[in-house]
Amino acid sequence: MVVTADHMVDGLGVGLYENVGQRVLELMRNGLAASMPPGVWTPNGVKIELMLIPHHPLSPKNGPALIVLDHGSGLTDPMVERYFYWLGTPIRELREREKGIQNGVSQKGIGRLAALALNENCLHEDRLVRIRNGYYLFSRTAASGEIRFVPVIPEKAEMNGGFETERFISPTSTEMGPLKDIKGSFTAIVVPSPVFKTADEIYEAIKWLLPREQDKMFDLTINGKPVGPPPLEKTLTLTSKDGRYRARLGAGNDKSEGIWLCDEENGFRVASCNKLGKSILPDPLWFPELSGDIFAPKLLAHQNTARSSLNKEYTRQSNKEWSKLKMWLITEVAPAARKLIERDSISGDAAQALDEVVEMFKGRFGEPDDMEEQPLPRKGSGGERRRPDPDAPKAEPAPYTKPQYRRYVSIKVGEETYILYRGQSLEAHTFARVSDNNPNQVIVNVRGAYCALPKGKEARREHVLMQILFAIGSHKFERSPYRATIFANQMRAEFLKK
Ligand SMILES: Nc1ncnc2c1ncn2[C@@H]1O[C@H](COP(=O)(O)OP(=O)(O)OP(=O)(O)O)[C@@H](O)[C@H]1O
Ligand SMILES: [Mg+2]
Repeated sequence: MVVTADHMVDGLGVGLYENVGQRVLELMRNGLAASMPPGVWTPNGVKIELMLIPHHPLSPKNGPALIVLDHGSGLTDPMVERYFYWLGTPIRELREREKGIQNGVSQKGIGRLAALALNENCLHEDRLVRIRNGYYLFSRTAASGEIRFVPVIPEKAEMNGGFETERFISPTSTEMGPLKDIKGSFTAIVVPSPVFKTADEIYEAIKWLLPREQDKMFDLTINGKPVGPPPLEKTLTLTSKDGRYRARLGAGNDKSEGIWLCDEENGFRVASCNKLGKSILPDPLWFPELSGDIFAPKLLAHQNTARSSLNKEYTRQSNKEWSKLKMWLITEVAPAARKLIERDSISGDAAQALDEVVEMFKGRFGEPDDMEEQPLPRKGSGGERRRPDPDAPKAEPAPYTKPQYRRYVSIKVGEETYILYRGQSLEAHTFARVSDNNPNQVIVNVRGAYCALPKGKEARREHVLMQILFAIGSHKFERSPYRATIFANQMRAEFLKK
């Protein structure tokens, strides 16, 4: 059986992965595994370098290239055989895995071909162009000396009955490009005409896929600059008694990619909770407004080939490992996560009372004249909450549900216009506070954090009204609480006038 060039590019490279980040990760994972002793995952101190080079001798017209460089073992002879002659996992390795001798990241035996999908020309509309393009592998197992150089071009492989693996070049030869005179053992994957145009694009593609736990993170640089996963807002950390189930969650937005289930050993993201959805996970773990990582043992082994979800067999009721994880999610994680978003949502009694009070201000003092200048709500980052049906096709995001809150609303108090800003929570006993940066901005605590709201609609309205007036008063008359109170009550009295 011959693997055709066409299948190599379309079936095993481009077709498998949902996004470019996952493709880069395949190469990084290989580099990591080659940089550690087998069997134990020890990423600390391991260095992976990503580079986007504007001119590379192997690129068409001396154009840009992407380089994924590791300083691991290099391709030893058995690895050369594995890399260029085997697709999938050989039986020998399956047996070793049974005994536990394996780095947990080698799963399917096809990840290397993800490099094809990083070459823009392998995505060309013309099939014959796609197979004519590929990538280059450079590798050395010794500390110095000649370097194995293999063009991984699917068309050539099909025509010549395999790859030409036994070509060695000098460390100073032109093909080396920026890796000239590199020291030590290493493997570099060089992708000409890369899908990325800037270093930022690389980071954007991979940032949510990087291990979040510090002891799982390796040294990663993009064009020499160290990078790590983005920080979480308002973090919540939970750990099971045995320490093997852990959750680090935060409030997110529609760009933070939701919560992921991650492998406990290596920290890699395995399955998107968004994607697993409500039929598999308890609310609110699949909600897009949450973000973060849930770590559980041995998940990577059950990841689907597209690297975004879990195999169906794994999430069956009858699977003991899954049941254990699910029980922890239901009893520990979901309740805590629910609190996290309750705290973060502009909804509930405080928000409603505020809406009513805003109407009261308008009725009494008129519409503020700067209404048109109010900033529009930012997508998914504030009050306008989106809860798409996870089963709906991805291309069509669910429409926003009502109410369409703005993060700001303007009111007039007497002659002056104030902006009430509801996008930020305050300390639990403060309902309203004038912003330190802007005397005409009042931050109101309507995201669920306020804990002194009275029962009963009317009482709440009165409470909210006075809290806002006191906040403005005490800012205006900072040195005199007496005058601040008089100001607030004078304004309150305005509402009684016919
Ligand atoms: N950077 C590298 N350094 C050394 N050996 C490598 C490197 N990249 C790949 N290999 C070797 O090539 C083999 C095949 O890699 P490939 O990514 O295709 O499969 P895998 O890592 O075994 O499984 P998966 O498909 O889950 O990634 C690896 O198992 C490893 O032995
Ligand atoms: Mg791999």
